[in-house]
Amino acid sequence: MSSKTLKLTDPAVGKSVDLPVLEGTMGPPTVDIRKVPKELGHFTYDPGFAATAACKSSITYIDGDQGVLLYRGYPIEQLAERSSFIEVAYLLINGELPNGSQLGEFQNEITYHTMIHESMKSFIEGFNYDAHPMAMMVSGVGSLAAFYHDSLDMNNPEHRQLAAVRMIAKMPTIAAACYRRSIGWPYSYPKNSLNYTERLLHMMFSVPAEPYEVSPVAAKALDLLFILHADHEQNASTSTVRLVGSTGANPYASISAGIGALWGPAHGGANEAVLRMLNEIGDVSNVGKFIERAKDKNDPFRLMGFGHRVYKNYDPRAQIIRKACHDVLNELGISDPLLDLAMKLEQIALEDEYFVSRKLYPNVDFYSGIIYKALQIPTSMFTVMFAIARTAGWVSQWLEQHVSEDARIGRPRQIYTGVTERDYQSLDQR
Ligand code: SDX
Repeated sequence: MSSKTLKLTDPAVGKSVDLPVLEGTMGPPTVDIRKVPKELGHFTYDPGFAATAACKSSITYIDGDQGVLLYRGYPIEQLAERSSFIEVAYLLINGELPNGSQLGEFQNEITYHTMIHESMKSFIEGFNYDAHPMAMMVSGVGSLAAFYHDSLDMNNPEHRQLAAVRMIAKMPTIAAACYRRSIGWPYSYPKNSLNYTERLLHMMFSVPAEPYEVSPVAAKALDLLFILHADHEQNASTSTVRLVGSTGANPYASISAGIGALWGPAHGGANEAVLRMLNEIGDVSNVGKFIERAKDKNDPFRLMGFGHRVYKNYDPRAQIIRKACHDVLNELGISDPLLDLAMKLEQIALEDEYFVSRKLYPNVDFYSGIIYKALQIPTSMFTVMFAIARTAGWVSQWLEQHVSEDARIGRPRQIYTGVTERDYQSLDQR
């Protein structure tokens, strides 16, 4: 860390404080403001935490201006091209790519923990068939703590590691059960002879009446999407997981809270919203009207799948997914007019001064739904897919948080704008 400091002075009271400037291995210098309240009597204000580093992390690095995304130093383009989701999950958790035996052991660990307690089916049965699967996921994942209370000592690294493996292993099983509930099909159990995404597709789409062969194209496409969605620094849902984890809450409660945060249309819910938007636009001839609506401050409509808090350049994941759309649809022999519509929408938006001046580009959610749709995954399950993949990042960040020397309970302050102190008035005086 550097020995540089920045001086902050309040001339009104003739006070100054020298603030340490912290340097990471990459990224901008960061002012450590922890002394400001005590030595200067001020808070700092940063709604949305756009300028605030909430933690130190060595997992994922994003350069928003350059459109760079690294998982433990490896460029997302190389991992997308050459790795697998399970290998990436190992990398995010452990910091290094596994050798053959480490990968095999990790795969076996995940496979060993894919089952869920039979009584979880009664929770899922308790939902209406048309319940949104993200609502079912929030409660299903949160309920896992009820089954593993013998390994919830968060000070025990073995318990933490076991919880991380259980989360990665069981998310697809819970997700598939939610999907089967929504279509009234019997639940399907994990087949341990299949790999991670083959197993998920089999649990979702196999029917008891006849054998079901998972399409290798579909499994590979899903594995690519899971690699791209696995982690993304301190986004809203990961920050939620960390904040809940900072209280010492168990990992199932932390991940359940992260799922709730991801559900929002401004975050992971955008992939579902993009498909609904494309269907609403319907035809290229309507694109102009929707672009104008997106620019109209009086219209709450936003171009879903566009813009990003950090990327002020093309989201590298969107680049990869856009190419994969063509490959997957060609390999599956599908043509989808929504892909042509999305490409046209992107082209028109990126020629429009409003989007160019605000550096609004397609993000990870803009094209992903096209592939999910080609895999016969219903729109309501798109964000569930995102949650399955992001679980690898959530548990990695949660594990890292528990061994950080800076770890303390998250507790932001505020600028109070309410009424000043006053005395209570009895009823007859009001
Ligand atoms: C994800 O953080 C992560 O890393 C998230 C994520 C991950 O992997 O975890 O990358 C995944 O959540 C991607 C984002 C998915 N969300 C969407 O696609 C929803 C549509 N996008 C927007 O709602 C918005 O761009 C956000 C939420 C993504 C970012 O919001 P910011 O950073 O708060 O940006 P902003 O609202 O301050 O926008 C700056 C300007 C504003 O206009 P002005 O006030 O300057 O005139 O750009 C405008 C905004 O109105 N703007 C948009 C827009 N996004 C921003 N205008 C129209 N359409 C949009 N999509």
